[in-house]
Amino acid sequence: MNNKTALITGATGGLGREFAHLHAAKGNDVFLISKTQTALAALQAELTATYQVSVHILAIDLSQVDAAEKVYEYAQTQNIEVEYLINNAGFGGRGEFAQRTMEQDVSMLAVNVVTLTKLVKLFLPDFLHRGSGRILNVSSTAALTPGPLQAEYYATKAYVTSLSNAIWQEVQGTNISVTALMPGAMTTGFAATSGMGDTALFANAVPPKAVAEAGYNGMMKGKLNVIAGLTFWQKPMMMLMPLMPKKMVMKLIQQMQSIK
Ligand SMILES: NC(=O)c1ccc[n+]([C@@H]2O[C@H](COP(=O)([O-])OP(=O)(O)OC[C@H]3O[C@@H](n4cnc5c(N)ncnc54)[C@H](OP(=O)(O)O)[C@@H]3O)[C@@H](O)[C@H]2O)c1
Repeated sequence: MNNKTALITGATGGLGREFAHLHAAKGNDVFLISKTQTALAALQAELTATYQVSVHILAIDLSQVDAAEKVYEYAQTQNIEVEYLINNAGFGGRGEFAQRTMEQDVSMLAVNVVTLTKLVKLFLPDFLHRGSGRILNVSSTAALTPGPLQAEYYATKAYVTSLSNAIWQEVQGTNISVTALMPGAMTTGFAATSGMGDTALFANAVPPKAVAEAGYNGMMKGKLNVIAGLTFWQKPMMMLMPLMPKKMVMKLIQQMQSIK
Protein backbone atom coordinates (compact mmCIF):
# COMPACT_ATOMS: atom_id res chain seq x y z
CA MET A 1 0.00 0.00 0.00
CA ASN A 2 1.15 3.57 -0.65
CA ASN A 3 -0.34 6.99 -0.86
CA LYS A 4 -0.08 7.46 -4.65
CA THR A 5 -3.85 7.51 -4.75
CA ALA A 6 -5.65 7.83 -8.09
CA LEU A 7 -9.05 9.50 -8.13
CA ILE A 8 -10.96 7.86 -10.98
CA THR A 9 -14.38 9.17 -12.02
CA GLY A 10 -16.69 6.79 -13.87
CA ALA A 11 -14.71 3.95 -12.30
CA THR A 12 -17.52 1.40 -12.64
CA GLY A 13 -17.74 1.75 -16.42
CA GLY A 14 -15.78 -0.07 -19.11
CA LEU A 15 -12.74 2.18 -19.32
CA GLY A 16 -12.83 3.33 -15.69
CA ARG A 17 -12.67 -0.24 -14.34
CA GLU A 18 -9.54 -0.83 -16.41
CA PHE A 19 -7.88 2.28 -14.96
CA ALA A 20 -8.80 1.14 -11.45
CA HIS A 21 -7.33 -2.34 -12.00
CA LEU A 22 -4.17 -0.94 -13.62
CA HIS A 23 -3.43 1.41 -10.75
CA ALA A 24 -4.36 -0.97 -7.93
CA ALA A 25 -2.36 -3.82 -9.54
CA LYS A 26 0.77 -1.72 -8.96
CA GLY A 27 -0.02 -1.62 -5.24
CA ASN A 28 -1.57 1.84 -5.25
CA ASP A 29 -4.69 3.07 -3.47
CA VAL A 30 -7.68 4.29 -5.46
CA PHE A 31 -10.58 6.67 -4.89
CA LEU A 32 -13.44 5.58 -7.12
CA ILE A 33 -16.45 7.64 -8.13
CA SER A 34 -19.63 6.92 -10.06
CA LYS A 35 -23.39 7.34 -9.64
CA THR A 36 -24.16 3.81 -8.51
CA GLN A 37 -23.33 2.76 -4.93
CA THR A 38 -23.87 -0.99 -5.48
CA ALA A 39 -21.49 -1.11 -8.48
CA LEU A 40 -18.89 0.87 -6.53
CA ALA A 41 -19.15 -1.41 -3.49
CA ALA A 42 -18.73 -4.50 -5.71
CA LEU A 43 -15.64 -3.04 -7.39
CA GLN A 44 -14.26 -2.00 -4.00
CA ALA A 45 -14.58 -5.57 -2.71
CA GLU A 46 -13.00 -6.99 -5.88
CA LEU A 47 -9.99 -4.64 -5.83
CA THR A 48 -9.41 -4.93 -2.09
CA ALA A 49 -9.41 -8.73 -2.26
CA THR A 50 -7.25 -8.92 -5.37
CA TYR A 51 -4.60 -6.27 -4.67
CA GLN A 52 -4.79 -5.56 -0.89
CA VAL A 53 -4.92 -1.79 -1.45
CA SER A 54 -7.18 0.85 0.12
CA VAL A 55 -10.22 1.53 -2.02
CA HIS A 56 -12.24 4.64 -1.21
CA ILE A 57 -15.61 5.03 -2.91
CA LEU A 58 -18.06 7.88 -3.34
CA ALA A 59 -21.42 7.56 -5.10
CA ILE A 60 -22.38 10.92 -6.52
CA ASP A 61 -24.15 12.28 -9.58
CA LEU A 62 -21.45 14.33 -11.29
CA SER A 63 -24.07 16.35 -13.18
CA GLN A 64 -25.00 18.09 -9.92
CA VAL A 65 -23.89 21.70 -9.78
CA ASP A 66 -21.75 21.23 -6.65
CA ALA A 67 -20.52 17.68 -7.38
CA ALA A 68 -16.86 18.62 -7.85
CA GLU A 69 -16.78 20.57 -4.61
CA LYS A 70 -18.33 17.59 -2.78
CA VAL A 71 -15.70 15.24 -4.23
CA TYR A 72 -12.86 17.56 -3.22
CA GLU A 73 -14.35 18.04 0.26
CA TYR A 74 -14.69 14.26 0.69
CA ALA A 75 -11.02 13.77 -0.20
CA GLN A 76 -10.04 16.46 2.34
CA THR A 77 -12.16 15.11 5.19
CA GLN A 78 -11.07 11.51 4.57
CA ASN A 79 -7.38 12.53 4.27
CA ILE A 80 -7.11 11.09 0.78
CA GLU A 81 -4.05 12.66 -0.86
CA VAL A 82 -4.84 12.49 -4.56
CA GLU A 83 -1.69 12.09 -6.68
CA TYR A 84 -3.40 11.17 -9.96
CA LEU A 85 -6.68 12.67 -11.18
CA ILE A 86 -8.32 10.57 -13.90
CA ASN A 87 -11.33 12.46 -15.22
CA ASN A 88 -12.97 9.57 -17.03
CA ALA A 89 -16.74 9.86 -16.39
CA GLY A 90 -18.67 10.99 -19.41
CA PHE A 91 -21.41 10.04 -21.82
CA GLY A 92 -22.72 10.81 -25.30
CA GLY A 93 -26.15 10.98 -26.83
CA ARG A 94 -27.27 10.31 -30.38
CA GLY A 95 -29.87 12.51 -32.02
CA GLU A 96 -30.39 15.72 -33.92
CA PHE A 97 -29.59 18.81 -31.89
CA ALA A 98 -33.11 20.22 -32.38
CA GLN A 99 -34.73 16.98 -31.16
CA ARG A 100 -32.68 16.31 -28.04
CA THR A 101 -34.06 17.69 -24.79
CA MET A 102 -32.55 20.58 -22.86
CA GLU A 103 -32.23 18.27 -19.85
CA GLN A 104 -30.20 15.65 -21.78
CA ASP A 105 -27.81 18.26 -23.12
CA VAL A 106 -27.36 20.22 -19.91
CA SER A 107 -26.64 17.02 -18.00
CA MET A 108 -24.01 16.00 -20.60
CA LEU A 109 -22.36 19.42 -20.47
CA ALA A 110 -22.35 19.26 -16.67
CA VAL A 111 -20.56 15.89 -16.51
CA ASN A 112 -18.29 16.07 -19.58
CA VAL A 113 -17.32 19.75 -19.26
CA VAL A 114 -18.26 21.57 -16.05
CA THR A 115 -17.45 18.96 -13.38
CA LEU A 116 -14.30 17.85 -15.23
CA THR A 117 -13.10 21.46 -15.34
CA LYS A 118 -13.95 22.08 -11.70
CA LEU A 119 -12.11 18.94 -10.56
CA VAL A 120 -8.96 20.09 -12.38
CA LYS A 121 -9.40 23.55 -10.88
CA LEU A 122 -9.75 22.15 -7.36
CA PHE A 123 -6.92 19.60 -7.44
CA LEU A 124 -4.30 21.29 -9.66
CA PRO A 125 -3.33 23.99 -7.11
CA ASP A 126 -2.63 21.24 -4.55
CA PHE A 127 -0.48 19.38 -7.09
CA LEU A 128 1.48 22.54 -7.88
CA HIS A 129 1.91 23.38 -4.20
CA ARG A 130 3.15 19.86 -3.47
CA GLY A 131 5.27 19.67 -6.63
CA SER A 132 3.82 16.37 -7.86
CA GLY A 133 0.70 15.00 -9.49
CA ARG A 134 -0.63 13.99 -12.89
CA ILE A 135 -3.97 14.47 -14.60
CA LEU A 136 -5.55 12.33 -17.32
CA ASN A 137 -8.65 13.79 -18.96
CA VAL A 138 -10.59 11.31 -21.08
CA SER A 139 -11.56 13.02 -24.30
CA SER A 140 -12.32 11.15 -27.55
CA THR A 141 -11.36 11.07 -31.22
CA ALA A 142 -14.70 12.91 -31.42
CA ALA A 143 -12.65 15.94 -30.36
CA LEU A 144 -11.07 16.07 -33.81
CA THR A 145 -14.16 17.00 -35.85
CA PRO A 146 -17.71 18.33 -35.49
CA GLY A 147 -20.09 15.35 -35.12
CA PRO A 148 -23.52 15.66 -36.72
CA LEU A 149 -26.03 13.46 -34.81
CA GLN A 150 -23.90 13.83 -31.67
CA ALA A 151 -23.20 17.56 -31.99
CA GLU A 152 -23.04 18.27 -28.27
CA TYR A 153 -20.88 15.23 -27.40
CA TYR A 154 -18.25 16.04 -30.04
CA ALA A 155 -18.19 19.64 -28.86
CA THR A 156 -17.70 18.59 -25.22
CA LYS A 157 -14.74 16.43 -26.20
CA ALA A 158 -13.18 19.19 -28.34
CA TYR A 159 -13.37 21.30 -25.19
CA VAL A 160 -11.72 18.59 -23.07
CA THR A 161 -8.75 18.21 -25.43
CA SER A 162 -8.34 21.97 -25.86
CA LEU A 163 -8.50 22.65 -22.12
CA SER A 164 -6.10 19.82 -21.29
CA ASN A 165 -3.57 20.87 -23.92
CA ALA A 166 -3.57 24.51 -22.82
CA ILE A 167 -3.02 23.59 -19.17
CA TRP A 168 -0.31 21.08 -20.20
CA GLN A 169 1.57 24.05 -21.65
CA GLU A 170 0.92 26.27 -18.63
CA VAL A 171 2.41 23.72 -16.21
CA GLN A 172 5.57 23.03 -18.23
CA GLY A 173 8.60 23.32 -15.96
CA THR A 174 6.70 21.88 -13.00
CA ASN A 175 6.50 18.22 -12.11
CA ILE A 176 2.82 18.21 -13.14
CA SER A 177 1.22 17.16 -16.41
CA VAL A 178 -2.22 17.08 -18.02
CA THR A 179 -2.76 14.42 -20.68
CA ALA A 180 -5.76 14.12 -23.02
CA LEU A 181 -6.73 10.56 -23.94
CA MET A 182 -8.65 10.28 -27.21
CA PRO A 183 -10.08 6.78 -27.70
CA GLY A 184 -11.95 5.51 -30.71
CA ALA A 185 -15.10 3.40 -30.32
CA MET A 186 -14.85 0.86 -27.47
CA THR A 187 -16.97 -2.05 -26.24
CA THR A 188 -18.11 -0.45 -22.98
CA GLY A 189 -21.44 0.74 -21.64
CA PHE A 190 -21.06 3.91 -23.70
CA ALA A 191 -22.76 2.66 -26.90
CA ALA A 192 -25.95 1.65 -25.07
CA THR A 193 -26.06 4.78 -22.87
CA SER A 194 -25.55 7.00 -25.89
CA GLY A 195 -27.88 5.18 -28.31
CA MET A 196 -24.92 4.42 -30.59
CA GLY A 197 -25.03 0.61 -30.53
CA ASP A 198 -26.65 0.19 -33.95
CA THR A 199 -24.43 2.60 -35.85
CA ALA A 200 -21.57 1.91 -38.27
CA LEU A 201 -19.26 3.86 -35.97
CA PHE A 202 -19.50 1.10 -33.36
CA ALA A 203 -19.25 -1.83 -35.79
CA ASN A 204 -15.51 -2.12 -35.09
CA ALA A 205 -15.45 -1.11 -31.42
CA VAL A 206 -12.44 -2.42 -29.48
CA PRO A 207 -12.12 -3.66 -25.86
CA PRO A 208 -11.11 -0.89 -23.43
CA LYS A 209 -8.11 -2.63 -21.77
CA ALA A 210 -5.39 -1.59 -24.25
CA VAL A 211 -6.86 1.92 -24.45
CA ALA A 212 -6.66 2.28 -20.67
CA GLU A 213 -3.06 1.05 -20.70
CA ALA A 214 -2.08 3.54 -23.41
CA GLY A 215 -3.77 6.40 -21.55
CA TYR A 216 -2.37 5.42 -18.15
CA ASN A 217 1.19 5.05 -19.48
CA GLY A 218 0.83 8.32 -21.41
CA MET A 219 -0.25 10.09 -18.24
CA MET A 220 2.73 8.67 -16.33
CA LYS A 221 5.08 9.97 -19.06
CA GLY A 222 3.36 13.37 -19.08
CA LYS A 223 2.33 13.10 -22.73
CA LEU A 224 0.24 15.84 -24.32
CA ASN A 225 -2.21 13.59 -26.21
CA VAL A 226 -2.77 9.87 -26.51
CA ILE A 227 -4.90 8.55 -29.37
CA ALA A 228 -5.80 4.87 -28.86
CA GLY A 229 -8.24 2.13 -29.78
CA LEU A 230 -8.32 2.67 -33.53
CA THR A 231 -8.52 -0.16 -36.04
CA PHE A 232 -5.77 -0.38 -38.69
CA TRP A 233 -7.86 1.47 -41.31
CA GLN A 234 -9.04 4.16 -38.87
CA LYS A 235 -5.47 5.26 -38.11
CA PRO A 236 -4.67 6.63 -41.60
CA MET A 237 -8.21 8.11 -41.72
CA MET A 238 -7.46 10.11 -38.57
CA MET A 239 -4.16 11.30 -40.02
CA LEU A 240 -5.84 12.39 -43.23
CA MET A 241 -8.89 13.98 -41.62
CA PRO A 242 -7.41 17.45 -41.06
CA LEU A 243 -6.50 17.54 -44.78
CA MET A 244 -9.97 16.51 -45.98
CA PRO A 245 -12.71 19.08 -46.72
CA LYS A 246 -14.70 19.64 -43.52
CA LYS A 247 -18.08 19.29 -45.29
CA MET A 248 -17.03 15.85 -46.56
CA VAL A 249 -15.89 14.72 -43.10
CA MET A 250 -19.12 15.89 -41.46
CA LYS A 251 -21.24 14.04 -44.05
CA LEU A 252 -19.24 10.87 -43.40
CA ILE A 253 -19.63 11.20 -39.62
CA GLN A 254 -23.37 11.79 -40.03
CA GLN A 255 -23.69 8.60 -42.12
CA MET A 256 -21.63 6.60 -39.63
CA GLN A 257 -23.80 7.79 -36.73
CA SER A 258 -27.10 7.01 -38.48
CA ILE A 259 -28.97 3.88 -37.40
CA LYS A 260 -28.06 1.02 -39.78
N1 LIG B 1 -16.81 3.82 -25.27
C1 LIG B 1 -16.45 4.58 -26.27
O1 LIG B 1 -16.64 4.25 -27.44
C2 LIG B 1 -15.71 5.88 -26.00
C3 LIG B 1 -14.97 6.46 -27.03
C4 LIG B 1 -14.28 7.63 -26.78
C5 LIG B 1 -14.32 8.20 -25.52
N2 LIG B 1 -15.05 7.63 -24.54
C6 LIG B 1 -15.10 8.26 -23.21
O2 LIG B 1 -14.59 7.33 -22.26
C7 LIG B 1 -15.09 7.70 -20.96
C8 LIG B 1 -15.53 6.44 -20.23
O3 LIG B 1 -16.67 5.91 -20.86
P1 LIG B 1 -16.94 4.35 -21.05
O4 LIG B 1 -16.77 4.07 -22.48
O5 LIG B 1 -16.19 3.56 -20.07
O6 LIG B 1 -18.52 4.33 -20.75
P2 LIG B 1 -19.35 3.55 -19.66
O7 LIG B 1 -19.01 2.12 -19.65
O8 LIG B 1 -20.77 3.95 -19.95
O9 LIG B 1 -18.91 4.19 -18.27
C9 LIG B 1 -19.25 5.49 -17.88
C10 LIG B 1 -18.91 5.71 -16.43
O10 LIG B 1 -19.20 7.07 -16.10
C11 LIG B 1 -20.09 7.10 -14.98
N3 LIG B 1 -21.03 8.21 -15.08
C12 LIG B 1 -21.79 8.56 -16.15
N4 LIG B 1 -22.58 9.60 -15.83
C13 LIG B 1 -22.31 9.90 -14.54
C14 LIG B 1 -22.79 10.87 -13.63
N5 LIG B 1 -23.76 11.74 -13.98
N6 LIG B 1 -22.29 10.89 -12.38
C15 LIG B 1 -21.36 10.00 -11.99
N7 LIG B 1 -20.85 9.07 -12.81
C16 LIG B 1 -21.33 9.01 -14.06
C17 LIG B 1 -20.83 5.77 -15.03
O11 LIG B 1 -21.31 5.44 -13.75
P3 LIG B 1 -22.87 5.04 -13.55
O12 LIG B 1 -23.04 3.77 -14.34
O13 LIG B 1 -23.00 4.86 -12.08
O14 LIG B 1 -23.67 6.16 -14.11
C18 LIG B 1 -19.72 4.83 -15.48
O15 LIG B 1 -18.94 4.46 -14.37
C19 LIG B 1 -16.17 8.74 -21.21
O16 LIG B 1 -15.67 10.02 -20.91
C20 LIG B 1 -16.48 8.62 -22.69
O17 LIG B 1 -16.95 9.83 -23.24
C21 LIG B 1 -15.74 6.46 -24.74
